[in-house]
Amino acid sequence: MPTSKDRSKTYRPETRLVHAGTLRSQFNEMSEALFLTQGYKYESAEDCELRFSGKIPGYVYSRYSNPTMDMFEKRMAALEGAEAARSTATGMAAVTAALMGLVKMGDHVVAAKALFGSCRWVIEDWLPRFGVPCTLVDGKDLKAWKSAVRKETKVFFMETPTNPTLEVYDIAAVADIAHNAGARLVVDNVFATPLYQSPLPLGADVVVYSATKHIDGQGRVLGGVILATEKLILDNYHQLLRQTGPSLSPFNAWVMLKGLETLSVRVTRQTETAGAAANALAGHKKIVRLIYPGRKDHPQADIVAKQMKAGSTLCAFEIKGGKEGAFRFLNGLELIGITNNLGDSKSLITHPTTTTHQRLTPEQRAELGIGDGLVRFSAGLEHADDLIEDLLAALDKV
Ligand SMILES: Cc1ncc(COP(=O)(O)O)c(C=O)c1O
Repeated sequence: MPTSKDRSKTYRPETRLVHAGTLRSQFNEMSEALFLTQGYKYESAEDCELRFSGKIPGYVYSRYSNPTMDMFEKRMAALEGAEAARSTATGMAAVTAALMGLVKMGDHVVAAKALFGSCRWVIEDWLPRFGVPCTLVDGKDLKAWKSAVRKETKVFFMETPTNPTLEVYDIAAVADIAHNAGARLVVDNVFATPLYQSPLPLGADVVVYSATKHIDGQGRVLGGVILATEKLILDNYHQLLRQTGPSLSPFNAWVMLKGLETLSVRVTRQTETAGAAANALAGHKKIVRLIYPGRKDHPQADIVAKQMKAGSTLCAFEIKGGKEGAFRFLNGLELIGITNNLGDSKSLITHPTTTTHQRLTPEQRAELGIGDGLVRFSAGLEHADDLIEDLLAALDKV
């Protein structure tokens, strides 16, 4: 059984990313061990009975407990300032469990309507099948959050910055409204990363991540994580995850641990590059609109300054000429890949209308500011000048 050294709570995020949660086996390995095992051998039938009942600690079955998963969860909790964390197979498994663990038939959910397509489907299409209706609001409008509340409202949900238009919502203000209504606020913090925004101290009750994005950050594996108080994790999530089994594989947990070690270096560099690209593109004659949370002209720059430590590794911009203009631009790129991940070490670009937000009607997309010419650029680790040259050369082809 690996032993654990309790790392100081005063370490800064960069140090926690490398050391927090490390468990060492009897071999005292330097790099975290990969415990690729589904189960564990017990000392005796009595030991097995006690571990199964939770009366003594110890791993039981890797659907819900495994030392490599444990290290990843503890490192994420230390980084986020959360009491506890549970890992999941994907970001969507984390979002779905985070919501389903807080509601039952007859409850009601309020969510910002600017959501990643799958998050919106879970809230708008899936939960109502189980008697949990939702109201979707403009996340910027605090009055809309307030007036959507019903006596059955149990959960508020938001992504901030949003996918793909990078709108930023006031977490503290929305948390206040949720709590006054007796509801809990769940924040999908994927775009901000744990380094730039900490929703729990701002009042959120649950934070979720797709670890597939910046946390792996090298396009290898999928994963997710739910963070909250120990009580909420035990009362609302532990059994749901244990019994339904959307588990992170130990291998993917190990990849994520290695990803976390370099998270700060990657995200810092990617943010500088995204900022440089946004500045180079601002005012370009082929671009109708440019959105970057690190710029003063961002529509919610005041909230960015209040609750985020830095801008973003992503910027979004709308190309003149709608879908045709956007496709000409995308097809003109040589270095930047057309794909639908984000936060990767390789720069990539997404056309939300035909991919992540294809399911929405043109009217719903228009309401969210997702024009047919909009593209979302995720900065990687290449030299910023090579990327800017690629972007500008492709714009010449529009
Ligand atoms: C904001 C947001 N939440 C959740 C997810 C889902 O993550 P995964 O693909 O790991 O299931 C994504 C994926 O793009 C996302 O952008």
